[in-house]
Amino acid sequence: MEQVEKIIDERIQGKALVTENKKENSKKLFIESYGCQMNMNDSEIVAAILDKQGYNTTQVLEEADLVLVNTCSIREKAETTVRKRLQKYNRVKQESNKTMKVGVLGCMAERLKEKFLEEEKIVDLVVGPDAYKDLPNLLEEVNEGRDAVNVILSKEETYGDISPVRLNSNGVSAFVSITRGCDNMCTFCVVPFTRGRERSRDPKSILEEIQSMVDKNFKEITLLGQNVDSFLWFGGGLKKDFKKATEMAQATAVDFAQLLDMCATQFPKTRFRFSTSNPQDMSLDVIHTMAKHKNICKYIHLPVQSGSNAMLKAMNRQHTREEYMELVDNIYKIIPEMALSQDMIVGFCGETEQDHKDTLDLMEYVKYDFGFMFAYSERPGTLAGKKMDDDVPADVKKRRLTEVIDLQQKHALYRTQAHLGKIEEVLIEGTSKKNPNEWKGRNTQNTVIVFPKEHYKLGDFVNVKVEDCTSATLKGTAVGYSDNN
Ligand code: SAH
Ligand code: F3S
Repeated sequence: MEQVEKIIDERIQGKALVTENKKENSKKLFIESYGCQMNMNDSEIVAAILDKQGYNTTQVLEEADLVLVNTCSIREKAETTVRKRLQKYNRVKQESNKTMKVGVLGCMAERLKEKFLEEEKIVDLVVGPDAYKDLPNLLEEVNEGRDAVNVILSKEETYGDISPVRLNSNGVSAFVSITRGCDNMCTFCVVPFTRGRERSRDPKSILEEIQSMVDKNFKEITLLGQNVDSFLWFGGGLKKDFKKATEMAQATAVDFAQLLDMCATQFPKTRFRFSTSNPQDMSLDVIHTMAKHKNICKYIHLPVQSGSNAMLKAMNRQHTREEYMELVDNIYKIIPEMALSQDMIVGFCGETEQDHKDTLDLMEYVKYDFGFMFAYSERPGTLAGKKMDDDVPADVKKRRLTEVIDLQQKHALYRTQAHLGKIEEVLIEGTSKKNPNEWKGRNTQNTVIVFPKEHYKLGDFVNVKVEDCTSATLKGTAVGYSDNN
């Protein structure tokens, strides 16, 4: 099994994004996204901003006036991929499209800033994750023949006032950003540097965006953020400034459990998911809110990174192995059918064989439904990059990664087998990749189910009897519509 990117659908990595074209727009934008779902959603915001500047999207690189690549810095491999794409754009530019402009967006733009212009000669435009509203001005600069850079990180920006243009949408499920940035400073992670400090979006604008999605017949909304459980709205600004807010603002603040409750109550027929939950910020209020609403899906992505206390400490994760296990116990106690998934990093600085065994042991304890596993990749500028020795040899990292992935696959199968014989509600999200006569959807636990299409339609909620499974997919037969239609 290949290493997998978390919450990322590998099939959409680097896919040029298309929107419905407007007749009055004359310029052509080719926009590609790499990395996390947040980047995919940011590209939808960028497309909305550029739509107003006269750009339609295209999938043909050769005909683009403007090429934008939304980049990821999380591991070295992600950056290498983007550099290869830049070489490709360069060839097209030289061979057939001399006036084409190229811009780099997202985390690599933020990390490398002006260096991009020096290192990658073809780049005209460098824009960090908080500066997309400045794109019209920056493009003006570029069109006048100057390079343009804006990598200023913001205290306020949540793009709450921009209604994203949905790109490559299945028309059924969509993502809505609720927080930006991260304050956690895990020592291995570049995100706090590239996406800035944590801030939450006004619940009013979140609910309005969801309403507009529901009006367009969307059936499932995933609330997005680096750390959604840390959501806190008290009138705007950085989370770390909460203590400085007025007493009134503090007293009327909205936390994540309350936001979830508001969403689920206002839109009882809409399914809600959220990602990602940092264990240290996960409150039992959230679990109780999930238990209260049928339309909040029973699945939590709860990255742990390691099962060893020594590693958790070195990573600056704010909880111990024991605290994590207690949280998991409580979750299963309150919602026994809950599905959990992990992110794991193997081979972090100083990881011993015993630390690695602790990780396998923790996995055995939780038996995660899904997992996203990575070998540690040192990132420049992070505390680990500056102060710790990346001392686990590559072959050891590789072997440990294989062990972790193999164990995860065993647990995934254990979990999928538990669905056999049950009748489960599935939201139809598209045609199965393997069989055009079958639908593909997910149950509340986020497990993919395929079943014969019969008379059912995209976007229907259907009860499906589960008859067979692999470690990744359930197979079944529809037995009727669910009561959610
Ligand atoms: N809180 C974020 C985490 C983003 S990073 C979110 O899930 O929205 C996603 C995952 O990448 C992390 O959970 C971690 O497992 C992995 N990761 C981050 N930095 C890494 C590094 N330097 N090397 C390897 N994996 C890393
Ligand atoms: Fe990164 Fe840790 Fe935040 S993994 S995104 S610093 S929670």
